[in-house]
Formats: sequence, C-alpha cells, structure tokens
Amino acid sequence: MTENIYRADDSRYDGKMQYRRCGRSGVLLPAISLGLWQNFGDVAPLSRSREILRKAFDSGITHFDLANNYGPRYGSAEYTFGQVMEQDLRPYRDELFISSKAGYDMWPGPYGNWGSRKYLFASLEQSLKRMKLDYVDVFYSHRYDPETPLEETMQALVDIVRSGKALYAGISNYPAEVAGKAFKYLEDHDVHCILHQVKYSMMVRLPETTGQLVQAKENGTGFIAFSPLAQGLLTSRYLDGIPTDSRAARNASLKSNTITEETLGKIRALNQMAQDRGQSLAQMALAWDLKDDLVTSVIIGASSVSQLEDNLKALNNTHFSPEELQKIDSILG
Ligand SMILES: NC(=O)c1ccc[n+]([C@@H]2O[C@H](COP(=O)([O-])OP(=O)(O)OC[C@H]3O[C@@H](n4cnc5c(N)ncnc54)[C@H](OP(=O)(O)O)[C@@H]3O)[C@@H](O)[C@H]2O)c1
Repeated sequence: MTENIYRADDSRYDGKMQYRRCGRSGVLLPAISLGLWQNFGDVAPLSRSREILRKAFDSGITHFDLANNYGPRYGSAEYTFGQVMEQDLRPYRDELFISSKAGYDMWPGPYGNWGSRKYLFASLEQSLKRMKLDYVDVFYSHRYDPETPLEETMQALVDIVRSGKALYAGISNYPAEVAGKAFKYLEDHDVHCILHQVKYSMMVRLPETTGQLVQAKENGTGFIAFSPLAQGLLTSRYLDGIPTDSRAARNASLKSNTITEETLGKIRALNQMAQDRGQSLAQMALAWDLKDDLVTSVIIGASSVSQLEDNLKALNNTHFSPEELQKIDSILG
C-alpha cells in the first residue's frame, strides 16, 4: 500500500521544536518528548500508535521514552515501537534518541524486578529485541533498589554503556541523597549520568523540596520531567466529568476518586488562567515546566494526534510573570 509508506516531514527541524542541551553532554533533547507508558500497548490499535509516533517525529520530537513494562501488557509498548521502527522509522534511526529502563516488576521470579545486574542485563536484551534495535540511546535504572548495593546497579549501567548496548546511562526516581552517590559512582567510572527522570508538574512539586531539580543541574545531568500533565488532570480532559475512554476511567495509574470537586475547582481556576494567557490548560502546564532551564525536557503522554498537536503549541509561550506564578501557587496551594 504505497500511500502508507512513511516519509518524514522535510520541515521537521524548521523551528517547530526547541532543543535543549542535556546537562553537561553533547546531546540536545527536544523540549517536548513523547512517552509510551500507557497509550501504546496492546490496549491501543497499532494504527493510532503509528499515527501519533509519525506526527511526533514530523514535529521535531526526536526523543521517545520507553521502559520494559510499558503497555499494558508489560513489554507491549516496546513491541509496538519495534513495529513502527520496522515500518516507518528505521531510515531515521540516527535522528532518534530512544530510552528504555528496568527497575519495576517485569517478569516472575527473583530476577525480574529491582536493581540487580542480572535483571538489568537480561531486561535490556529483551527490550532491544522487542524494539528491534541494536542499542538504546539511554538506559535507566528505573528506581533505586535499597536491597541491592548501589555499586552493583551502577556498575551494571557502566558495563552496559561499555558494551555499546546503551550510549548513555540515566537514573529515575532516585532520592536526592542516593542520586548524588549514583552520579559520583558513574563519574568515577567515566560514565556521566546524562539524565535524572522524575515526576514534576505544577501539581507535583516534590523535586523542588527534595533538591533533585537543582542537584541535577549542579551535576550537569539533564532533568527530564515525567507526567507533566499529572496524567491528564492538568488538561481539559476531566472538566466535564470522566470520559469513558480516559485514563481515569481505567482506574489504574490515575484513580477516578482523585478527581474530587476540590481538585476540579483548582483545575477550573487554572483553566481560566490558561485561557487568559491564550493557551489551553495542557499548554500552560507544559509551559510551566519549561519556564526556565532547570527542566531539559517534559515527557508527555498522548492518546491521540490532536492531544499531541495541542501540547506542541505550549512552546509558543513559556514565559510567566511573577504574578502569574504566584497565582498558580495560590490556586494549587
Ligand atoms: N520514570 C518513571 O517512573 C515514569 C513514570 C510514569 C511516566 N513516565 C514517562 O512519562 C511519560 C508521560 O507520562 P504520562 O502519560 O503520565 O504524562 P502526562 O502527559 O502527564 O499525561 C498524559 C495523559 O494526559 C492526557 N492528555 C495529554 N495531552 C492532552 C491534551 N492536550 N488534552 C487533554 N488530555 C491530554 C491523556 O489522557 P488520556 O489517555 O485519558 O487521553 C494522556 O494519556 C510516560 O509515557 C513515560 O514515558 C516515567
């Protein structure tokens, strides 16, 4: 079917996307990256996933974030990505920055979870097969494992980078005090930690108080924010109730009972503020994460091309006055 042969938009680098330097490294990341956590597994038709991924790349999104257990059905998002790699993106492999991770529950038994060398090596092999890749650009330890010596997990990352199966190493969800030790271990073994991936949005400010945000900058590590839309709360998705096709309706990672009248009141106030700025709420939420140089990139999720298109326009205005920032704090406070 010739009409389905993909050719990337020739104008994909013509100023549509901003690229930000990723800490102290040679890598530039798009300010908006696309994550495949919830919307690209068996649950989603391949045609829709393919359409979103194509649109993303056509819009200058070069970074795609995956992990072994993204789906649902664990592994199925990587499998989908592998299919789109085969069908569409293979000629563009050198223009893509692809990540995977291991650290959460993946397969049964003692070796399919947490931070052992055994798990990280085996998981990366599986991820590469599913994604039909020879290497990933970043491989992350997905979370700190307090039961495994940090040295074991970090040495596994060092050796994975040495093997060439990942070009860079990253960590995700590490408490600040452990992240500091992880950065140092990697540095001492000639592997600079390129990214710390942590949840951060207008609604989830923890990285400010834990120090993870500033710590990454001081270490020359990029800070990449996940769930910048609070899984859809910071959008217009739930303003008129819970749509049947929404994440909250599935009641898994986003519980429908978190969408209380009180929360909705805040979302409505933020929505009004976004309108006053000439933005959608989703655009304002992403702009807020990207307002200064502490965040290298936001990793968004999207269940449709139109959501992606909406989100991309966030880059048209990432400036906030001190009064606006204060107002956001007081709405959410
Ligand atoms: N390192 C970690 O531990 C970790 C954990 C979680 C996520 N992540 C990464 O971060 C990525 C993003 O996480 P996330 O999916 O929670 O991000 P998010 O951007 O906060 O939420 C995405 C959801 O918001 C809704 N949405 C997005 N744009 C919208 C728009 N313009 N208008 C209305 N609704 C919109 C969609 O909900 P519907 O699906 O309901 O349409 C979409 O699925 C993941 O894919 C993954 O790569 C990493």
